[in-house]
Amino acid sequence: MILYKNELLPEHEVPISYQDRGYYFGDGVYEVFRIYQGILYKKQAHYRRLERSAVEIRLRLPYSIKDIDQKLEELVRVEQVSDGTLYMQITRGIAPRAHVFPLNAEPILMAFCTKVDRPLNMLKEGITAITLPDIRWLRCDIKSLNLLPNLMAKQQAAEQGAGEAIMFRDGMVTECSVSNLMIVKNGVIYTHPTNHLVLPGITRAVVLKLASELGTSIREEAFSLEALFAADEVFVTGTTMEVTPVVKVDQSVIGNGAVGPITQQLQAAFERTIGS
Ligand code: PDD
Repeated sequence: MILYKNELLPEHEVPISYQDRGYYFGDGVYEVFRIYQGILYKKQAHYRRLERSAVEIRLRLPYSIKDIDQKLEELVRVEQVSDGTLYMQITRGIAPRAHVFPLNAEPILMAFCTKVDRPLNMLKEGITAITLPDIRWLRCDIKSLNLLPNLMAKQQAAEQGAGEAIMFRDGMVTECSVSNLMIVKNGVIYTHPTNHLVLPGITRAVVLKLASELGTSIREEAFSLEALFAADEVFVTGTTMEVTPVVKVDQSVIGNGAVGPITQQLQAAFERTIGS
């Protein structure tokens, strides 16, 4: 079933309009939640980010967060998803194509669940990554539907047999195509601060909290490509990638090419937060 506006509908009955501004402008915001054992992980943090994204693009949410939450919970229940993801988006609604915001369009909520197993192999073995210039706009803190630069980056990574694309701006690493990036050097974790250049990842926040509980030093500051290549450990964080080690970047092996000890500690701590 698909949640469309405030109704659960079979897929073929979803009345998506060709005039939905999400469709031709990407005019909307979205969230991806992880479902662990039937539970929407850190859902309040996702709702807070959704509200903020909506404010930043001047989009009025069509329902209260309480009502949206009730609907999403119902969707997860009806779909009987134990492990998977829930995608939701809100667009500015249906109106004749014009760049100026429509006066009377009603914002449209759409959501669906996907059953998917946790990326256990990736978590254990790590992935390789490539580096690419960050060609996105200057409001990467908004989780907007406009993902073309992210898609192009991920596609290029895939074509080169890599699992993620690490982006940089003015020589400084920002984040990845679908995840945030952290490095470890001499026992200290470095990650880009949450400003307009990166998405404030929910997993990023969880991992930083876990790291500080473990007594690891954290510096939320931008670091260079050179620092990335010279790191002892590199890992990405994200709803779909959890805490995935990066063992090679471009042609450079990170550390000794194995998953590092701090990454492993954080993976174990993260595992405890999802109750498995
Ligand atoms: N992406 N940075 C970018 C550019 C992202 O697209 C994402 C998540 C993250 C990680 O954020 P979080 O920990 O809140 O998932 C960072 C989602 C999963 C997606 O677009 O599919």
